[in-house]
Amino acid sequence: MKKLLPCILLILLLPGCSWDNEETLYPGPGECDTTDVSFSRDIISILSGNCYVCHSNLNAPSFGNGIRLEDYQDVVALSERITGSINHETGYSPMPKGRSKLDACTILKFEAWVADGSPGN
Ligand code: HEC
Repeated sequence: MKKLLPCILLILLLPGCSWDNEETLYPGPGECDTTDVSFSRDIISILSGNCYVCHSNLNAPSFGNGIRLEDYQDVVALSERITGSINHETGYSPMPKGRSKLDACTILKFEAWVADGSPGN
């Protein structure tokens, strides 16, 4: 019995552990984590992956109509226009220009960041 108890505990705990890991590593389809969206980690990666070919500080004058989306204060100042543009709302130039619309989760993350007060973390 002394040897059996740790074994039983192990068997009980193991599936719990692997289930937790699977959830965090492979979120199921339809799940979109919009909690604690950070500027440096999430927003920069969205913008650099989809927008900096035209809107980096370097490229903006030639390709992005002078609109810079690299520095925190620029993104905050334009956050309302960005939201309208990536949602292809009327009255806004649809972005990313000449490409397909961003996926729904990416748009939700940007909106969640704005709704959070655009933290500069
Ligand atoms: C291929 C170049 C290109 C890409 C990629 C691009 N833009 Fe633009 N963007 C432009 C140009 C040029 C304009 C000036 C308006 C126009 O020509 O439509 C503009 C305008 C804008 C505006 C102002 C629109 C308005 O109605 O006030 C915003 C905001 C914007 N872009 C955000 C973005 C975001 C966010 C992305 C990435 C998701 C992006 N852009 C990707 C070229 C681009």
